[in-house]
Amino acid sequence: MFKIQTLNNISVAGLERLPRASYEVASEISHPDAILVRSAKMHDMEIPETVQAIGRAGAGTNNVPVAAMTARGVAVFNAPGANANAVKELVIAGMLMSARNIPQAWHFARGLSGEDAAINEAVESGKKQFGGFELPGRTLGVVGLGAIGVKVANAARALGMHVVGYDPSITVNHAWQLERDVQATLSIDDLLSRSDFVTFHVPLTDQTRHMINADRIRILPKGAVLLNFSRSGIIDDDAVVTALDQGHLYAYCCDFPSNLLKDHPRVITLPHLGASTKEAEDNCAIMVADQIRDYLENGNVTNA
Ligand code: MLT
Repeated sequence: MFKIQTLNNISVAGLERLPRASYEVASEISHPDAILVRSAKMHDMEIPETVQAIGRAGAGTNNVPVAAMTARGVAVFNAPGANANAVKELVIAGMLMSARNIPQAWHFARGLSGEDAAINEAVESGKKQFGGFELPGRTLGVVGLGAIGVKVANAARALGMHVVGYDPSITVNHAWQLERDVQATLSIDDLLSRSDFVTFHVPLTDQTRHMINADRIRILPKGAVLLNFSRSGIIDDDAVVTALDQGHLYAYCCDFPSNLLKDHPRVITLPHLGASTKEAEDNCAIMVADQIRDYLENGNVTNA
């Protein structure tokens, strides 16, 4: 009998891949053989010596002490691509929300009160205040052309946008999935200089931390929009707020609220919702459960 500890709610579709006859799965369990985790931060946790594998039901592995676990011989699995469609949809929504001022306008409309005549008058003022711009003909810069970046690039092309992509390590596998007219560039600065919107799909590493800072923001055309559905440390939020206040940036849409960002009128923040769809949660859980099972039962490493 294998024992699996779950540190977060893991989708039933994934847990069903571990047959009850040979797997005991629980949030509290002694001597687990493997751990399934979504967002729980594991860096300060005591990880039992019995653990042979950790499955992260998502793409990023920042919440798992990967180096320490690898040194101990523990296999760490993740679910690259399994939530890519969910993230792509939210990025496209983020562009539309930013360009059309949707959250601000919704907030305004909810605050309306009084007689119909007064509301109609306010509607006229709302139309002036929250008017926006359209996506076709604008350029989207996609930083990171992995499973998510490629999907975002292709969806933006379908909306009539120009797309330019940058990835220092684009693989042939992903490159061939790009629409023909998505242009790849070799330099992030070149991408920034050409982009009305920029979206980031890279992991947070020493190389990517604050890859967008005050200097890089200055390279963007005036009125650009930044979108961050990757990890918060990739963008220097102080520099973003300064650029928004100075009118150099039009808007910032990100999946990581903070005290600095959450009340800013030109910032749209969401509570890390990129991968929060039923489909993505099922796909991630299924992928890591299958990996853990194959590893525990057969010693196969399908992604580690
Ligand atoms: C990811 O890295 O894919 C996301 O953080 C997944 C999640 O929201 O759990």
